[in-house]
Amino acid sequence: VLAVWHQLTKTEIPELSKGSVVMRERRRVEETIRAMRRAGACRLQVISDFDMTLSRFAHNGRRVPTTHNILDNRLLINEECTKKMKELLNTYYPIEIDASRSAKEKLPFMVEWWTKVHELLIEQRIRKDMLAQAVKESRTMLRDGYKVFFDGLHESQVPLLIFSAGVGDVLEEVIRQNGVFHSNVHVISNYMDFDHAGVLRAFKGQLIHTFNKREGAVTQAAGLAQLHGRPNVLLLGDSLGDLTMADGVSDPHHVLTVGFLNDQVEERKELYMNAFDIVLVRDETMDVPNAILRNIT
Ligand code: C5P
Ligand code: MG
Repeated sequence: VLAVWHQLTKTEIPELSKGSVVMRERRRVEETIRAMRRAGACRLQVISDFDMTLSRFAHNGRRVPTTHNILDNRLLINEECTKKMKELLNTYYPIEIDASRSAKEKLPFMVEWWTKVHELLIEQRIRKDMLAQAVKESRTMLRDGYKVFFDGLHESQVPLLIFSAGVGDVLEEVIRQNGVFHSNVHVISNYMDFDHAGVLRAFKGQLIHTFNKREGAVTQAAGLAQLHGRPNVLLLGDSLGDLTMADGVSDPHHVLTVGFLNDQVEERKELYMNAFDIVLVRDETMDVPNAILRNIT
């Protein structure tokens, strides 16, 4: 039996032997992939985080902007606001990725960060008709292999839920400009609320930050009819908070989780290995998710 399992990874999914791949329980991964393949594409849904999961963490040694940071453009905000947003990032991002604090401890800080940034953005009276240009001028980049990922899911009619604590309007524009905003893509995120003149006046609905995705999963994702009857989930994220994105799936059968470990690698490796089925260490590609999907669908 062992030899057969071995074969699955080596020959059917050689990508699982890439140097960036770490798995605590290779056997569980293989069994889950097999079970998902038996059930087929019609029983599958993919739930993915956006910033630093579908988008790259870095390119040529430089950080790639998150959806919030794409807004750092003079078309939208002034120098003072840029400065304040940077200060907030320098204060709160280290807390977000701190290996020594629990999600529960981080939660109030995340609420503080998002609330302050959203207030700053509202003060700037951001114009809706400038967003597309800001995305064009930004250094945003999706991971290598993103086209195969999005197009493949569309072709096999597997719904993709993008669940992001970033800015929904910006996220949609990024995937639109990359030509992959297909009809099977659903987005749950923080959306801007514009007044009749197209000026930002608020953010819609319940705030989503890195560590409250469970609430959004239960209240919003669970209601998406397109995801019903699909008990098998491939989940992609870069934060431990992303693991709760599938909590709205009723009666899940098989859930395979893939975690991109981008930053604080040595400090967090153990935590990630214990939490995700597959950990991708400093891997800026979609190679492994694509290989798994090729095998399942
Ligand atoms: O799409 P995702 O859920 O990953 O979006 C959240 C990410 O955006 C967080 O990981 C956080 O580091 C980043 N962020 C940011 N600037 C903010 C708030 C969050 O870059 N003001
Ligand atoms: Mg992320």
